Amino acid sequence: MSIKNVKGTHDIIGEEATSFTYIENLLKQIAELFGYQEVRTPVIEYSELFVRSVGESSDVVRKEMYTFLDKGERSITLRPEFTAGIIRLIVQNKLLATSELPLKTHYVGPAFRYERPQLGRYREFNQFGVEAVGINSAEIDAEVIVLSYTMLQSLNLENVLIKINTLGDEESRHNYKNALKQYFSPYLEKMCPDCHSRYELNPLRILDCKVPEDQEIVKGAPKIKDYLSKNAKEKFDYLLSLLDGLEIPYEIDDTLVRGLDYYSETVFEFHYTSRSGKDYGALGAGGHYDKLVKELGGPDVSGIGFSLGIERLYSVLKDDGLLEGYFDNDLDIYVMPIGQIDKQFVLQVTTGLRLAGYRTDQCFEDVKLTNMFKRAERKNAKYAIIIGENEIEKHEVIIKNLRTTEQETCPIDQLIETISRKMNEEDLDEEFSQNVKEG
Ligand code: HAM
Repeated sequence: MSIKNVKGTHDIIGEEATSFTYIENLLKQIAELFGYQEVRTPVIEYSELFVRSVGESSDVVRKEMYTFLDKGERSITLRPEFTAGIIRLIVQNKLLATSELPLKTHYVGPAFRYERPQLGRYREFNQFGVEAVGINSAEIDAEVIVLSYTMLQSLNLENVLIKINTLGDEESRHNYKNALKQYFSPYLEKMCPDCHSRYELNPLRILDCKVPEDQEIVKGAPKIKDYLSKNAKEKFDYLLSLLDGLEIPYEIDDTLVRGLDYYSETVFEFHYTSRSGKDYGALGAGGHYDKLVKELGGPDVSGIGFSLGIERLYSVLKDDGLLEGYFDNDLDIYVMPIGQIDKQFVLQVTTGLRLAGYRTDQCFEDVKLTNMFKRAERKNAKYAIIIGENEIEKHEVIIKNLRTTEQETCPIDQLIETISRKMNEEDLDEEFSQNVKEG
């Protein structure tokens, strides 16, 4: 029996692979426009890192981590998300002491969660994200949200809904958790076993319970907005006024609490329903964290960041036809060797054209010339270079313009010069007809 890929993982092939690179490069360019620098962290980290940061009450730590003992009996986890590893990197390398604050990073790569695979949900998936660490201010929160919005706009995702909420400061959350405990206490017996431990570890997590009967109970739960301290409320209102000033649309969602334990104050998610109506889940999400840097051994400073799911971005862009026109896999030149000729000569011609900057491929299979022309057509090649025994003997090649079908013989030592002249003429012709079209 042949071996298949691991459940919940997926192969990324052809246009999908090109699209991933396109999306990631675009996000990277915009992050750099905003002054964020790339960092890379290992895929594996000590499990303790995620237990201490993402938190024991989160589903990610409780059920979804790929954790194993290495040969030295150390508990290792495949990163289920990036924020914890990025903060570890910043603290371990003492970057906050040597950089202008906030320290602004961006990152991309695979993450792993043992979730039930379904539409938009994989066990290995890719995230692009940013973290801005070292200063606690609403202006930085606003910058990060503007950055996320700019990224989604640049991908032509115009009707993205930014849902935003605040979890308040420590005092607000302390009061809110007590209120939740009081509210859920009489229902607890009927609720799922997970909610029992959530009740003990972090009652905020009950709000995310997916069990329909529990969700009904959750509907009547107190809202964080009624437990915000004066400071927390003022800071959130100020952030919203900054977003209004920057014309960033958002919707306040007072049920949004996020599933990872490190958040405090601002949290947000990006939602988008593609025209086909398929729901792939949130395209991305993020938030502010006050205690995470200190918890991981760094100074008492806060940070904020978000991560976008590349698989989900790809799916909605593809569904809505927003990736069309971005891919140019067309060839400039297709090299066609005829019969059993000196393959070294052919390879040298192909390599020479590639090194001169032309997107060139050659036919490696022993097929008929008509077949080679069909292949060139499929690859949308502009020119064919035909090489037979006769040409090798005379140190020549045949250049055929595949649009006009004109062809000429060219000495091999003049090939690059001739191709370059022809390509330039074609570019000028194209420019001319474009100008005529535009009047
Ligand atoms: P998260 O909400 O767990 O947040 O994940 C962010 C995004 O990653 C999701 O909105 C989704 O697009 C994608 N994603 C998550 N799980 C899966 C999955 N199983 N399959 C496909 N895509 C998935 C975080 O990871 C935080 N670290 C975000 C953050 C950064 N907060 C502050 N800084």
